[in-house]
Amino acid sequence: MAWRSIGIFDSGVGGLTVLREVMHTLPQEDTLYFGDTARVPYGTKSPETVTRYAGEIASFLMKRDIKLLVVACNTVSAVALPALKRRLAIPVVGVIEPGARRAVEVSRSGKIGVIGTAGTIRSSAYTRAIKRLNPDAEVLTRACPLFVPLAEEGWTDNQVARLTAETYLRELKESAVDTLVLGCTHYPLLKQMIGDVMGSDVILVDSAEETARTVAAILGEKRLLRPAAEKGNHSYFVSDIPAGFVRVGNRFLGGRLGDVFQVTLDEEDGEV
Ligand code: DGL
Repeated sequence: MAWRSIGIFDSGVGGLTVLREVMHTLPQEDTLYFGDTARVPYGTKSPETVTRYAGEIASFLMKRDIKLLVVACNTVSAVALPALKRRLAIPVVGVIEPGARRAVEVSRSGKIGVIGTAGTIRSSAYTRAIKRLNPDAEVLTRACPLFVPLAEEGWTDNQVARLTAETYLRELKESAVDTLVLGCTHYPLLKQMIGDVMGSDVILVDSAEETARTVAAILGEKRLLRPAAEKGNHSYFVSDIPAGFVRVGNRFLGGRLGDVFQVTLDEEDGEV
């Protein structure tokens, strides 16, 4: 059982920021990553469509006998997690709950900002998760869709990125949140710029680290961890030609990707 892989997926390259943390926390584990590069972005799509896509990807990974599924996409975690959990007989870990938990832990004032894709913000999933943990918390949200192409283009440290960040974050800054959740896989690449704009007294929460800790805790509890001396292998699957994924992905992963395979998903697997 312990020798099976961890499955992890996202709409594209973004989830590699989560994979990076999982590889860092659990270097002994094999991982199978799926990036739905043919259909990215998910952040602008309806919950029904995102849920169907997620179902197809989950089926693909389940056929490869994974022991745990990481939903490394905030948009999917926001709209499709309950459906995936109902359907799959293995543990399913999203990124929202871990990020919310961390934000509640570190916030002193209880005034917490959340930024994400339009789909994530519209779902109110972070607000609900934070308020479940601290009913007195005040949660302010803002969709920042342009951060996604900026991060993919590598424009994280120029005038365009600065102006975009200043425009999106103005109200959150004025409302004096003391914690800001980076509620999208791409935003850790803009962490420096977002931190500059918000000011050094605002704590930035990146769900990826907390998600990796959650994965380690669940596998530990279920006695599904591989021995620490092992060295994990990592495979990558995408739904469009791999070239763009490889180019942008190395930056998101902070290292070199291994073999990337292009595959076709079975659309009949989308029902969840
Ligand atoms: N991975 C998505 C998320 O974390 C961002 C990219 C997209 O919109 O698909 O919400």
